Amino acid sequence: MDSHQSFSDGVFVPLTNSGTLSQTNSVEDEIIISAIKVNKYFGDKHVLKDVDFEVHKREVVALIGPSGSGKSTLLRCFNGLEKHTSGQIYIHGHLLDPNLSIKQLSPIRSELGMVFQNFNLFPHMTVLQNIIEAPLRVRKTPRDQAVAQAEKLLAKVGLAEKRDVYPNKLSGGQKQRVAIARALAMQPRALLFDEPTSALDPELVGEVLKVMKDLAYEGSTMVVVTHEMQFARDVSDRVVFISDGVIVEQGDPEELFKQPKHERTKLFLERVLSTML
Ligand SMILES: Nc1ncnc2c1ncn2[C@@H]1O[C@H](COP(=O)(O)OP(=O)(O)OP(=O)(O)O)[C@@H](O)[C@H]1O
Ligand SMILES: [Mg+2]
Repeated sequence: MDSHQSFSDGVFVPLTNSGTLSQTNSVEDEIIISAIKVNKYFGDKHVLKDVDFEVHKREVVALIGPSGSGKSTLLRCFNGLEKHTSGQIYIHGHLLDPNLSIKQLSPIRSELGMVFQNFNLFPHMTVLQNIIEAPLRVRKTPRDQAVAQAEKLLAKVGLAEKRDVYPNKLSGGQKQRVAIARALAMQPRALLFDEPTSALDPELVGEVLKVMKDLAYEGSTMVVVTHEMQFARDVSDRVVFISDGVIVEQGDPEELFKQPKHERTKLFLERVLSTML
C-alpha cells in the first residue's frame, strides 16, 4: 500500500469503468476525479447544475467556457475549497463529503495540487520554504528529503538559482513556475490549474505553458481551466465546454474546435478565437 492509499475514512468506489471517453493511448482507465450530478448554489444562485465529470489517470482535460460559467467553482469543489451543495465527488475513490472537517478533508485535498491565477505563494517564505512547507507539515516528510525534492523540482521548472529568493523578487512567470513546483512537491495524483497564465504579461506566458506541456507529456493528470485555446487544442486529451453551470459538450480537442455540436460552443469559440487573431 502506498502513502496515497492509507486514507481509510472515505468510501471507495470502483476505480475503473468500461470507459466511454475517447482516450489516447497514454490515458488509463483508473479514475482520479469523479463528479456525479454535482450542484452548487451560492445563496439562491445556482452555479453548477448536475455536473458529471470524470478525469482519468494521465489525462489532460482543458476546461473552457465564458466568464462566470462555473469553471473555478468546479475546480474549487474538487479540492474542497468550496463545499458542493449536492451530488458526489470522489477523489481517487474517496468520497469528498462536504460535511467533513478541515482535518478530515486534508488527506483527500492533498491528492490534488492546485495552481491559481495569482500564484498564492507565501510572501514571507523563500522559494524553497514555499515548496517544502506542505511536505513537512502535511506529509511529515523528513526535512533533508523535502529539501532534496524541492531542489529537483526547482531544476525541473528552470529555477534552481532562485532557491533562496523571496517571491517579491520574482517575475510573474517565475512565481507561477514556483507555484507549480510547490504543487508537485506533494506528489499529487492530479494537478488543477485555474487560468495559470491569465495574470501574466504576454511575454511570460510561454515559459509557464512550456512547463505545463512538459508535465502533460510526462503523463501527469491535469485539469486546466484556460483561455489558451492553442494549449487546449495541442496539449489536452479532452476539452470540456461549460456554460452557465452546465457541461454543454466535451470531446476530442480537434473535433470540438473544428466542429462544435452545440450553438453555444460555436459562439464561444468564435468569440475567443477571433480575439486571438
Ligand atoms: N463565493 C462566491 N459567492 C457568491 N457567488 C460566487 C462566489 N464565487 C463565485 N460566485 C459566482 O458563481 C458564478 C461562477 O463563478 P466562477 O468563478 O466559478 O466562474 P468562472 O467560470 O471561473 O469565471 P471566470 O472565467 O471569470 O474566472 C459567478 O456568477 C460568480 O459570480
Ligand atoms: Mg474562474
